[in-house]
Amino acid sequence: MMGRSCFRNFIATKDLFLPPMKQKEKLRTIVNRIVTDNELHAKWLNCLSMMENTGARKISKYEHPVYTNIIVLKHAAEEARHAYYLKKQINKLSKDACPDYSYPFLLAPVESYHYLRQLDVLACRYLKNKLDLEGRALMHGAYLLVTYAIEVRADMLYGIYQEVLTLIHSKVNVKSIIAEEEGHLEEMQRMLEVFHPDWRQMAEDMCATESALFENWINAIERVLKN
Ligand SMILES: [Fe+2]
Ligand SMILES: [Fe+2]
Repeated sequence: MMGRSCFRNFIATKDLFLPPMKQKEKLRTIVNRIVTDNELHAKWLNCLSMMENTGARKISKYEHPVYTNIIVLKHAAEEARHAYYLKKQINKLSKDACPDYSYPFLLAPVESYHYLRQLDVLACRYLKNKLDLEGRALMHGAYLLVTYAIEVRADMLYGIYQEVLTLIHSKVNVKSIIAEEEGHLEEMQRMLEVFHPDWRQMAEDMCATESALFENWINAIERVLKN
C-alpha cells in the first residue's frame, strides 16, 4: 500500500510526463472518427488487443523461471486479460469480425507491430549506454522503463477513448482496463525507485522516446482514416 506522500509524489511524476496537448487533441480527433464506423472501430479494438497481447507475451518472456514475484505475475495476467477483453468488445460491434491479428484486421499494422518492438530495442540500447547493463540486469531495467512509458501512454489513450465511448453511449467500454493500468503505473514507479536513484531522468528519457514512436503510430492511423 502506498503512503499519502508517496501517492502525491506519484501524481507529480505522472503529470511531469504527460504527453503534449497536441497529441491528445490529435488522438481525440482520430478516436471520434473511428467510433463512427463499426469496421474501423473493430480494427482499432483488435489493434489495441494485439498490442496488449504483445505486452503480455513480452512480460512472460521476461519472467524468471524461479525468482518471479506476485507483482510480475499479476502484471502478466492482467495484460493478457486486456487483450482478451478488448477482443470480446469487438463482438458488440460486429459478430466474427477480426478473428486474428493478421494485417487485414488491424489499423496501421506495420507501425502497430513496430511500436512495441522498437521501444524495447531503444530501451536496451539506452540502458547499455547509460549503465553498461547486460544479461538479466538489462532485461529487468528494460522491462521497468518500457512498461513505465507504456503505462503513462495507456493512461492517456484509454482515458480519451473511454471519454468518447461514454459521450456516444457506446456498448464498448474500457473502464476495467483503465483501473488496472493505473495500478501498473504505480507498481512500476515503486520498482524503478528500487532499481536506480536516477530513475526519474531515465523514465523521462524513455517517455520522450515513446512519444516519438507514438507519434509515428498515430500518424499512420490518421493516414488510414484519410484513405
Ligand atoms: Fe494493458
Ligand atoms: Fe499495463
